[in-house]
Amino acid sequence: MEFLFTKIIATLGPASSDPEIILNLIQQGVRIFRINFSHGTFEDYERLLNNIRRAENQSGNHIAVLGDLSGPKIRVGKVIKGGVHLQKGQVIKFVKRDVITGERNFEFVFSSTFPHFIGEVELGERILLDDGNVELKCTGRERKGLDAALICEVINGGLITSAKGINLPDSDLSVPSMTGKDFLCTKFAVEKGFDYLALSFVRSGDDVKILKAELVKLGARPQEQIDTKGDMGFTEVSEGLKNFIPIISKIEKPQAIDNLQSIINETDGIMVARGDLGVEMDIAEVAVLQKKIIHMCQEHGRPVIVATQMLESMIESPVPTRAEVSDVANAIFDGADAVMLSGETAVGKYPVKAVQMMKRVAAKTNFFIKEHDYHPGTSMKQTFMNRTVALANGVRTIVEDLHPKYLVVWTNLGGSAVNLSQQRTAIPIIAFNDDEKRLRQLSLLYSIKPVFMKEPKSGSQFINAMDKILIENKWASKGDPIVIVSPDPIHKQGITNRIVIHYLGESVEE
Ligand code: PGA
Ligand code: MN
Repeated sequence: MEFLFTKIIATLGPASSDPEIILNLIQQGVRIFRINFSHGTFEDYERLLNNIRRAENQSGNHIAVLGDLSGPKIRVGKVIKGGVHLQKGQVIKFVKRDVITGERNFEFVFSSTFPHFIGEVELGERILLDDGNVELKCTGRERKGLDAALICEVINGGLITSAKGINLPDSDLSVPSMTGKDFLCTKFAVEKGFDYLALSFVRSGDDVKILKAELVKLGARPQEQIDTKGDMGFTEVSEGLKNFIPIISKIEKPQAIDNLQSIINETDGIMVARGDLGVEMDIAEVAVLQKKIIHMCQEHGRPVIVATQMLESMIESPVPTRAEVSDVANAIFDGADAVMLSGETAVGKYPVKAVQMMKRVAAKTNFFIKEHDYHPGTSMKQTFMNRTVALANGVRTIVEDLHPKYLVVWTNLGGSAVNLSQQRTAIPIIAFNDDEKRLRQLSLLYSIKPVFMKEPKSGSQFINAMDKILIENKWASKGDPIVIVSPDPIHKQGITNRIVIHYLGESVEE
């Protein structure tokens, strides 16, 4: 059995929608699939989901499905076939009406999916199109009300086709954090049993609260939050909520950087969404922001994903650039739980090769970390202290003294697994539970291998059962030291209070 430390997320798309490819991607190391709600129909999503579940069964691994909500992404409206070329110095307009840009009388007049922004962009502010490839500057406004138009000067020109993205990094927009479609996608994700939901373009903790409230309404989050100073689950989970869906907040706006603390307080996990982040912020700062965000996630016990352009050149080429492999390794050194592939697996020519490459880089990097006792990230200390965190800190000391073969945990809500994983001890962690959904969710966390076990009646029964599983699977041999972390009593949710040092094969009285 192969144990993965850094987890690989693959975005599914036309290049990877067949069950055989999905199975192949799992076999090469993918543990989380992202279904991007920005493209496709509900029929497509459902087909992908079914294909993942089938491949998951065949592979014998627990696979998480992450639904990615588009959030308030603004796009240009319709443009004539072939697009229009914008030249430096040219003056163009955005209007509230629906027009087809490029048609007679509308040569350089654009509509958009959020016409409201016309009234909210101030003079001198930037309007970026097509991932920042085209830059405009607001130079004026015409008329008011329905006839209002925003006048812009082209600073950097280029080709614009239908539905290209609009980024407004300088403007404070009233656009709601979730669109009508996002609400529909959320309902769909809950009904179909998605394991995670990501929210794009989060600006503050309040944006996260809106998705949380919707999930509460749909029965996929607890009504009340447990005191965060207590022993928590994934973040704040009340007892026995089987449908719980953790939220991953995508950090890709300057406002999110300003409000990072409030977002981290509310969210269950974070994605460093470098694609839009590099458009909305100074691209030169992306590496620094990545380090800053990961560091803060680790201080607060939040899993963190690094995303976008990790092996971008593999969309076209079977071999990545040296800079790209270095980027994957550095994300691991920074302390990422998971690294994500986007276009590489969704629309690229070499989806399987991209995953293989990512896994090879991760394996080399994690081996180096282990050999040199080099822990990724800087501060593993959590700024808030509770029993689970203190216990995980204690486990680190035991690991250094005893070099156990595995850490083993019975985790009811996932909190103890998150905290052990955060220690980045270079020892594989086997997390046992009897809930499939929880096991799938655990597959996102660094160094965690989720394994099914029927809930044991007692702590000693748990030790004997896991002893048997480890020997039967040949994951370890008699006499190997194992460190076990569990709640006592074992079925009690939300507490982690027991460490046992066990030598495999030592029987324990039940
Ligand atoms: P996207 O998010 O791929 O949904 O745009 C990731 C990013 O912006 O980096
Ligand atoms: Mn994005």
